[in-house]
Amino acid sequence: MEKSLRSSILIIGSIFLINFMLAILAVFFADALDLKVAFLLFLASIISSAIAITVIGGYFTSLSTYLIHIRRLYKLNNLTNPLLLRLSKEAPGTYHHSVLVADLTSKAAKAVGVDSMLCRVSSYFHDIGKLKNPTFFIENQGLMKETNNHSSQEKSPTQKAKIVIDHVRDGIKMARDAHLPMEVINMIAQHHGNSLCSYFYEEAKEKDSSRIKKSDFRYDGPKSQTKEAAILMLADSIEAVARVKNNSVDNKKLVEDIFLDKESEKQLDDCGFSLRELATLKNTFADTLNSMHHLRIEYP
Ligand SMILES: [Fe+2]
Ligand SMILES: [Fe+2]
Repeated sequence: MEKSLRSSILIIGSIFLINFMLAILAVFFADALDLKVAFLLFLASIISSAIAITVIGGYFTSLSTYLIHIRRLYKLNNLTNPLLLRLSKEAPGTYHHSVLVADLTSKAAKAVGVDSMLCRVSSYFHDIGKLKNPTFFIENQGLMKETNNHSSQEKSPTQKAKIVIDHVRDGIKMARDAHLPMEVINMIAQHHGNSLCSYFYEEAKEKDSSRIKKSDFRYDGPKSQTKEAAILMLADSIEAVARVKNNSVDNKKLVEDIFLDKESEKQLDDCGFSLRELATLKNTFADTLNSMHHLRIEYP
């Protein structure tokens, strides 16, 4: 935004300077100018004024779009949103995970200079689709009265994968119904990219490898199309793995492994991060994890 303001001011300033010089020329050489040259000077000043008005108009349009975007996100940056209140009550493990992911994403986004408010808000909402079947997801098991059906033998691996994959589809639908901004809906849609639901895929392969289709075990995608979406995807996996490992591994290695995994699945191909930005992200994620999982000191 600052860059576009600076370049707009530069363009408008130059145009006004040109106009001013044309006016001076016209005044000083009024007697000497023939009608044709005077007309050309007049035409040049009209054209340059039109350009100035277009630049100013364009700048104010993008400024107002940006302010609307910030205002909407600012309103949603609030854990009292009805959907989030439902999440905290009906899927407490997912809610806690989302709050931690928000901390990871917003710090990472700030470190590489992208939209940290969008990352924070989208993190809160990224798994709202799990509200359809909260006890199926491991983070909610043991926290709720209903029993878990994750390991249930009644469902085939394909059916179980479909429930997991559906949390993205359901999340998109719920976000649309709640009139969340399109940027947030896109972040929900992209937070697993088109990665493979490998746990159930391997289970299916073990049972009957001849009849399974790999595409049935893939999220719909698309892959992360923006830096913010890639940050959410990485933070989501980092938080989930960190919770399972529970301080038993070095956080730097944990983060490195997640990045390698996403890179090998080609999930970071479309987001446009440079190598330097990826290194900054790794360090920031590891630092945030360290601050989250610091050892508690017993005070005397
Ligand atoms: Fe998810
Ligand atoms: Fe998640």
